[in-house]
Order: sequence, then C-alpha cells, then structure tokens
Amino acid sequence: MLFFGGALFITLAVGVHLTPYFPSVSDFVSSVKSVVVYDNREDSCINLVNEVVWDVKPRVISSEGDGTVDYDKIWDWSRNGKAKGCDFEKLGRGDVKDLLNGSWIVVAGDSQARLTVQSLLSLILDEKRMAMIMGDLYKKHSDYEIVVDEIVVDEIGMKLDFVWAPYVVNLTSLMMGFKKNRTYPDVLVMGAGLWHMLHVNNASDYDVALENLRSSVVSLLPFSSELDMDGPVTGVCVC
Ligand SMILES: *[C@@H]1O[C@H](CO)[C@@H](O)[C@H](O)[C@H]1NC(C)=O
Ligand SMILES: *[C@@H]1O[C@H](CO)[C@@H](O)[C@H](O)[C@H]1NC(C)=O
Ligand SMILES: *[C@@H]1O[C@H](CO)[C@@H](O)[C@H](O)[C@H]1NC(C)=O
Ligand SMILES: *[C@@H]1O[C@H](CO)[C@@H](O)[C@H](O)[C@H]1NC(C)=O
Repeated sequence: MLFFGGALFITLAVGVHLTPYFPSVSDFVSSVKSVVVYDNREDSCINLVNEVVWDVKPRVISSEGDGTVDYDKIWDWSRNGKAKGCDFEKLGRGDVKDLLNGSWIVVAGDSQARLTVQSLLSLILDEKRMAMIMGDLYKKHSDYEIVVDEIVVDEIGMKLDFVWAPYVVNLTSLMMGFKKNRTYPDVLVMGAGLWHMLHVNNASDYDVALENLRSSVVSLLPFSSELDMDGPVTGVCVC
C-alpha cells in the first residue's frame, strides 16, 4: 500500500504554465495544447526526480571552542542510477524569474507544502526580504499571501498564495472553489499526507480522498478525463 510503503507524502503538482500574465479562464481553456497526466508511471523521469545524493561536510562555526558544528550540504542527482539519463538541471534565480514572471502561484497543503513556499521564495528574494517575511509565513496553520512586485528592481510581478489545507479533502474543496470562481492559478502545487497520517491514520480513507482529489483536478481541465498518456511532457503532472 502506497500509504504505508514509505511514500509518506503524496505530492500532487499541477503546473500549467500558459501565458506569463495572469491568464483568464478562457486563456486557460484555449491555450493548453498538450496535457499529460502522469500517474505513477514507472518509466517516467518525474518518478526519478527525488533520486538525489547528498554531500554533507561538517564545518566548525564557533571559534569559542565549544564545538558548535554546522554542515555544508550540497545535493545533486544521482550519477549512477536511472536519473542520469533524465538530464535534470537545477534552476537558478534567473531561471525562476524568467519562468515565473507574471504568474499566480498557489501552493496548498500542510507544513511540507509551506517548506516548498519557503524554498521558492528564498530563490527569488534576497536574504533581507526573506528574513522580513519568515514570521508571517510561519504563522501557525494559516494562509499566507505575498505579492512580489516588479517595481522593486530585479524582482518580478508574481503573486504567491499559500493555502493551509492539511487534509486531502481541504485540497479538494480548494479545487472546487477554483472551479466555482472560475479563477485558476498558473502554477498549482499541492501536498498532503503527513497530517492525514497523524490525525486520521486510515489508509483506505486516504485512498478514497486522493481519488476524489484527482477527479476534482481533472475536472478543472478543459477536456474529458480520457487523456492522452503518450504525448510530450508538458502541462499537467499528477504524480
Ligand atoms: C517581467 O516581465 C516584465 C513585463 O514584460 C518585464 O518588464 C520585466 O523586466 C520582467 N522581469 C524580469 C526579472 O524578467
Ligand atoms: C479541512 O477539512 C476538515 C474536515 O472536513 C475541516 O474540519 C477543516 O476545517 C478544514 N480545514 C481548512 C483549513 O479548510
Ligand atoms: C472564491 O471567491 C471567494 C470570494 O471572492 C473567495 O473568498 C475565495 O477565496 C475564492 N476561492 C478560491 C479557491 O479562489
Ligand atoms: C477507514 O476508511 C474507510 C473508507 O472511508 C471506512 O469504510 C472505514 O470504516 C474506515 N476505518 C476505520 C477504522 O475508521
């Protein structure tokens, strides 16, 4: 069973990058050219994206001799495994700015998803700005919104919402909200699992909840659930 088999977090990431500027629903419907839904396909590179190796070296940070040690941590994709053939590349600040300029990004889920927000923002913002927002980002169990404005030199026009949605059913409600409002983010990242496991701990219930979430995500797409599984890897990833 996936739930107990080491896959603690089922992350569902839907990235639909359509136009760089807050597209309306009609843009959404008309401009998705090819969409592939991935569902645990064994031969997909998406499944190998977590095959990373860490290089961790201790670094003594205190000159007081109290032995305080920090670590330099560097990661890269495994050079031996299957991931080698996938040509994954790390994105730098410049790439992220190019890709996300003008986008509305929604990250929804539990505290793992909040960490994704932190990582993404720390790629875009400088240390000073990052320090300023951390308190608000980490207000317990609440939503968070930031508009990264392009007025500030070198930043971009981007809106990011974090939606506190600890249970899978909360994600499903969010999807229904998008559908009802007819507003859709350009990039949607969802993650839930940990909270459910801690507070509900019922694998079949979780299974049912994920099925419902999947249907609600697919129902946002501008076509039926009969999706072409062989097309190019762009558009949507449900994995
Ligand atoms: C973002 O897009 C706007 C509008 O095209 C452009 O003026 C700005 O330079 C872009 N910012 C970055 C960092 O690419
Ligand atoms: C998430 O769903 C649960 C169960 O339906 C509900 O009690 C809770 O209020 C929801 N939380 C949020 C933040 O929507
Ligand atoms: C839908 O619109 C209502 C009213 O503007 C807003 O409060 C709610 O957050 C929106 N929901 C979503 C999922 O965008
Ligand atoms: C677990 O969830 C399933 C499906 O929702 C339900 O039928 C079952 O009664 C639940 N089991 C427990 C122990 O709550």
